[in-house]
Amino acid sequence: MKTYLVTGGAGFIGSNFIIYMLKNFKDIKIINLDSLTYAGNLNNLKEIESDVNYHFVHGDIRDNFLVNKIFEDFKVDYVVNFAAESHVDRSIEDPETFVKTNVLGTLNLLNCAKKAWYVDGKWKEGKRFHQVGTDEVYGSLGETGYFTESTSLDPHSPYSASKASSDLMVKAYFDTFQMPITITRCSNNYGPFQFPEKLIPLLINNAINHKALPIYGDGLNVRDWLYVEDHCKAIDMVINNGTIGEVYNVGGHNERKNIEIVKEVIEYLNREYDNTITEELITYVEDRKGHDRRYGIDPSKIKDELGWYPETSFEKGIIKTIKWYLKNKQWMEEITSGEYENYYNKMYNK
Ligand code: NAD
Ligand code: TYD
Repeated sequence: MKTYLVTGGAGFIGSNFIIYMLKNFKDIKIINLDSLTYAGNLNNLKEIESDVNYHFVHGDIRDNFLVNKIFEDFKVDYVVNFAAESHVDRSIEDPETFVKTNVLGTLNLLNCAKKAWYVDGKWKEGKRFHQVGTDEVYGSLGETGYFTESTSLDPHSPYSASKASSDLMVKAYFDTFQMPITITRCSNNYGPFQFPEKLIPLLINNAINHKALPIYGDGLNVRDWLYVEDHCKAIDMVINNGTIGEVYNVGGHNERKNIEIVKEVIEYLNREYDNTITEELITYVEDRKGHDRRYGIDPSKIKDELGWYPETSFEKGIIKTIKWYLKNKQWMEEITSGEYENYYNKMYNK
């Protein structure tokens, strides 16, 4: 029985990963360490919270005493580090928080894992530190080309700079100490439980409340979208079969301009939910500072080496996602009460 220490498991991708793993594997144990920032929500995990193989620890990945204690109390085999500050706009307002969690938090996890796993001059068998990274570390593409694993790192936002730093720290623990690590760098995710500060849930939430749909700049920036469950599958495959020390890019060639996404969301909601939701809600707002123009992943390595492929097309995934948000309005209402309103009003100057 393998024991996973999943950090940030109450956030968007982390909670999807825990649910995916506990549904697919009966012989694993998961410890979820999450400090429950504005982005963490234990309600995401309701369907598995009473599973005997699931255990929640409320705490910070920077807490050296606590993380060492987790390694002492549980025989941790795999660390899967999702915990992070994850929103670019927030990183422009407050870069320091991103360095503290994303860089110093990752460093603390590496040190605690090393302390537990490196004994008498050698690494214990079957251990793995997996870092959940992002394609944003590669910077921005022009009209053509893709990010491969050998594309130079060129982050532009405080968020992506902090994620690049944490990836490099993980790589340094492999190069210096031969720590058994892997890194995935995935493109933009969408799906259930995503906090509505990110584009797709923000559009759905605003549209159903007849609020303006803010589009940064000219709306022609391109993101490469992946349904969250396909990302979870990729992480599982890399942890179990990926080569130690390697980076794997994850993406499904689903590039869309932001304006196309907005129109797709409006078209579906207008047809299936409320015909007063129209393109009149689209509102062009000031561009994001340092806004990367285009992301596009070349996923050949993970496909060829590990046989990974995305199962959900964008056309199916976006409908599944909109339906989920319509069915879970209460989740949205709960998560957007309190601090969210202040944040939203500040960001969009309303
Ligand atoms: P999220 O913001 O939804 O969730 C982050 C989680 O981490 C929250 O539950 C939060 O409470 C927790 N957390 C934050 N600081 C913590 C700390 N100091 N200690 C313990 N827990 C802490 O983020 P997400 O979108 O689920 O992203 C998860 C990971 O995946 C991040 O590392 C992100 O960089 C990476 N990633 C995200 C995307 C995407 O499209 N969302 C794409 C590629 C990679
Ligand atoms: P986001 O979901 O914040 O992800 P990231 O910046 O990490 O790729 O944004 C996706 C794209 O949508 C990005 O080009 C910025 C744009 N965007 C808007 O146009 N309006 C919005 O309100 C938000 C949140 C994002």
